[in-house]
Amino acid sequence: MTRIITIASGKGGVGKTTLVSNLATALAKFNKSVIAVDGNLSTANLGIHLGIPLYPVTLQDVLSGDARLNDALYYHPAGFTVLPADISLKKLRLANSHELVDIFYKLVGGCDFILVDSAAGLGKEALSALEAADEMITVTNPELPALTDALKIGNMAEKYGTHNLGVVVNRVKDTKHEFSLPAVENFLDTPILGKVPEDHEISKAVSRKQPILVHKPSSKASQHIMSIAARLVGEDYKPRSQVSHKLFGWLK
Ligand SMILES: Nc1ncnc2c1ncn2[C@@H]1O[C@H](COP(=O)(O)OP(=O)(O)OP(=O)(O)O)[C@@H](O)[C@H]1O
Ligand SMILES: [Mg+2]
Repeated sequence: MTRIITIASGKGGVGKTTLVSNLATALAKFNKSVIAVDGNLSTANLGIHLGIPLYPVTLQDVLSGDARLNDALYYHPAGFTVLPADISLKKLRLANSHELVDIFYKLVGGCDFILVDSAAGLGKEALSALEAADEMITVTNPELPALTDALKIGNMAEKYGTHNLGVVVNRVKDTKHEFSLPAVENFLDTPILGKVPEDHEISKAVSRKQPILVHKPSSKASQHIMSIAARLVGEDYKPRSQVSHKLFGWLK
């Protein structure tokens, strides 16, 4: 059965696209087939995170009837398929939830997961991606502005009947000023799926246009993302320290 999960946040810039590219990579490591869809058609950047900003055929071409869906699906070396959106203003076009549902309907059965990278905010674009999916993962930072917006997107998910799987708390620095994980759970009244620490390796990976799980699988952030993926597929995963990761790689 294909699970259709939108990665949403409310607030912008909290780490949705980073999570989509890395969760897709992590799920592939658990032998799951994944299609990562750029549902952020107005400010598309999944392709930029993945090092292929200029895909020749994109979601916009499919939506406008100029291309077939199959021609807009690309295999990424990190182990998953991408349905990218176009970054050019010339092709600016949003999708409504019915159009997205039509696309998902055609993809269902051909993969284990469809991960949708949502636009920020509570505008039509973000809400369409939310309505078209069966499940949602909320991404937030452990700070009040992001949490307030996460609360709103959670309420909208409830309205659409989209099951809120839980929250990923990104950019955790473990300072005394930020919300603790139990406080986030309490504030949003949603289970914590996992956390991703603040990790400078993520900015390095983004600048190299690679998922951090490709750039540095032994990093703390990569290990936490593997744990989140494990939770999604119901498997056990013990985060490995950098030393044991190296040792394991060497033994293999
Ligand atoms: N855990 C982290 N540690 C350090 N930097 C991070 C982390 N997560 C994300 N970032 C940085 O934050 C930037 C923004 O992340 P990202 O593009 O994934 O956010 P977004 O929610 O998709 O933004 P938008 O709402 O604009 O689509 C990334 O380019 C990356 O450099
Ligand atoms: Mg994004």
